[in-house]
Amino acid sequence: MNPPSGKTQFICQNCGNHSVKWMGKCPACGEWNTLIEEKVQKIKTPMFSGGNTFITEATRPIALSQIEESAQERMATPDEELNRVLGGGIVAGSLVLIGGEPGIGKSTLMLQLALSLPHKLIFYVSGEESLQQVKMRASRIGDNKNPLSDHCFIYMETNLNAILDQIEIVLPELIIIDSIQTLWSPQMESSPGSVSQVRECTALLLRLAKSKNIPVFIIGHITKDGAIAGPKVLEHMVDTVLQFEGDRHYQYRILRTLKNRFGSSSELGIYEMQGEGLRQVPNPSEILISPRDESLSGISISAVMEGARVILLESQALVSPSVYGTPQRSSIGFDPRRMSMLLAVLEKKGGFRLGMQDVFLNITGGIRVEDPAIDLGLVVSILSSFLDIAISSKDCFTGEVGLSGEIRAVSRMEQRISEARKLGFERIFIPKSGQTLKNKGPFRVIEISKLDDLIRELFSN
Ligand code: TYD
Ligand code: MG
Repeated sequence: MNPPSGKTQFICQNCGNHSVKWMGKCPACGEWNTLIEEKVQKIKTPMFSGGNTFITEATRPIALSQIEESAQERMATPDEELNRVLGGGIVAGSLVLIGGEPGIGKSTLMLQLALSLPHKLIFYVSGEESLQQVKMRASRIGDNKNPLSDHCFIYMETNLNAILDQIEIVLPELIIIDSIQTLWSPQMESSPGSVSQVRECTALLLRLAKSKNIPVFIIGHITKDGAIAGPKVLEHMVDTVLQFEGDRHYQYRILRTLKNRFGSSSELGIYEMQGEGLRQVPNPSEILISPRDESLSGISISAVMEGARVILLESQALVSPSVYGTPQRSSIGFDPRRMSMLLAVLEKKGGFRLGMQDVFLNITGGIRVEDPAIDLGLVVSILSSFLDIAISSKDCFTGEVGLSGEIRAVSRMEQRISEARKLGFERIFIPKSGQTLKNKGPFRVIEISKLDDLIRELFSN
């Protein structure tokens, strides 16, 4: 029997799935304790069909050839890292969602942006912090010397209607919402932070952005497992999704593009959190590779692509005999399943008895790497630790390791090689390519086609 309609329903706060009765586990996404009772309500404001189709005038179909091409207006910011992840600057009328764990630096990043834009009128909505707290942060990042703080208005409010009214009066050129989970629209009866509220407030902000052609940045918290809180639908509504990540114990922060209607979605910006706010890191390799003792084993450098950039970073491995029955395996910054695969390849194709060894892997700097070209470097670190043979700090590696121990080609080899040379490496190990070798001066490019070649080159003497 169905309950009388129009009363309440239970909505999963993780995926937005509806249910008529409470359940401990959401049947759609499998999360526990995420179903919250919310009133079923008719929404008074018009909602948009797909979330992204905002209609400003009576529409009719237009032949593609008749549509005028308009150059996208972009506002370049002094922050090169932010420009990069946005695809070259802030697009007029775009809605950008910035997700990240609490304390990672989202508010700092946005306040710095607000204080750095030359003579733009900024409207910063602070729903989480008092005016004094925002002021304290601003002084910390040095607004006392900043003449632009006259152009930055801070509004401590969570009622979206009041916010929209003030925006009508102030007519800002950029709006920052800190954070979407604190906003509420009086049109909805559910509490702030609930799926319905988050969705409704985002829809209204989307309408504002598109109708007034003002860019809007929305800060959103992410849940423990890394998803942006609230339903997936939020990600579909906005133009760009940026994720601010990094370990709170490291000072590096990574701003990653997850979705971008106006540019590549695989870009990356790197910052360092300092006492006076976030500093851009234009050349990440220099800080990700620490000067090291040549005699330490278990360390190697890999050239990986992050977005359109080559980054050289250090991977460390510790391989030691397991004291317990089941060997421990752990990896930080790298997919553990892929690590198991690499270990199996080393065992089967290289003949190394790693089955009874504990293996720990770590990519330094708190970076999470998805480029498979890091495989080769990881294999080298693992073997270096296992055999206790140190790798020269002038060597670097790039290449994917296949299941039969072959070293597979990876993209943008030229770029990787030239970056390694620029940073003063003396040798780079790459997959066999069939092209002519690019040795220049003391710099050597060493091509390897199988694991055996690598072992012969580095670990046999
Ligand atoms: P914050 O921007 O408040 O994080 P979020 O909005 O994502 O929750 O930044 C919080 C952390 O950053 C806090 O632990 C203090 C640190 N921090 C600095 O180290 N230096 C600074 O200049 C600022 C402003 C913050
Ligand atoms: Mg904050």
